[in-house]
Amino acid sequence: MKVFGICASPRKGTTHYVLDHALNTLEGHGFETEIFTCQAKDLKPCMHCDYCLENKKCIIQDDMAEVYENLQSADGIILATPIHSGSVSAQMSIIMDRTRALEAVDYNLLRGKIGMSIAVGGDRTGGQDLAHMTIINYFMIHGIIPVSGGPFGSNLGASFWSEDSLDKIKEDTYGMESLNRTLIEFENFLNKYIY
Ligand SMILES: Cc1cc2nc3c(=O)[nH]c(=O)nc-3n(C[C@H](O)[C@H](O)[C@H](O)COP(=O)(O)O)c2cc1C
Repeated sequence: MKVFGICASPRKGTTHYVLDHALNTLEGHGFETEIFTCQAKDLKPCMHCDYCLENKKCIIQDDMAEVYENLQSADGIILATPIHSGSVSAQMSIIMDRTRALEAVDYNLLRGKIGMSIAVGGDRTGGQDLAHMTIINYFMIHGIIPVSGGPFGSNLGASFWSEDSLDKIKEDTYGMESLNRTLIEFENFLNKYIY
């Protein structure tokens, strides 16, 4: 089974660190993984030109091609975002909007895949929950089954407090526990519902 992780930070920082940890853990459990990082990527916003509805592909030629390819072949999807202005980053928002073109090709393309969310804020309560809800809404709209790590600390997914520092996020044991609990459920769902 394949898990595709998207790091929606414009840099290789704290979000990349925790997503990489998650994918390494999954690889250790026998999953194939792929990561897409937004650092230095050309990702343009959807123009709502509706070209995709008519022509079954997006008119914009940029690095979304790599995202489209990996989303199609993935069984599980991890969306990892830094908190920007209290919610998901602009890069995450662009990627979510641009997958409209995938459903123009095949309405069922994303349906039934398993999804989980990772949110990394500089502040302890900087908007992680709203970012999770934005991602979970996206999952629901597209028929992706959202999982959390359960009601004791990972209610909506994995939440981190980075204090804007790679050293500090490594000390966020509570955040790491929320990730590990979410990963356990993610694996359970993949094993139960994906054949
Ligand atoms: C434009 C911008 C807006 C931000 N807004 C918030 C915010 O609203 N809440 C918060 O907790 N952190 C905020 N941060 C801090 C980042 O979430 C934090 O530094 C995070 O660890 C960055 O992830 P990265 O290292 O993967 O880029 C903001 C950072 C930037 C660049």
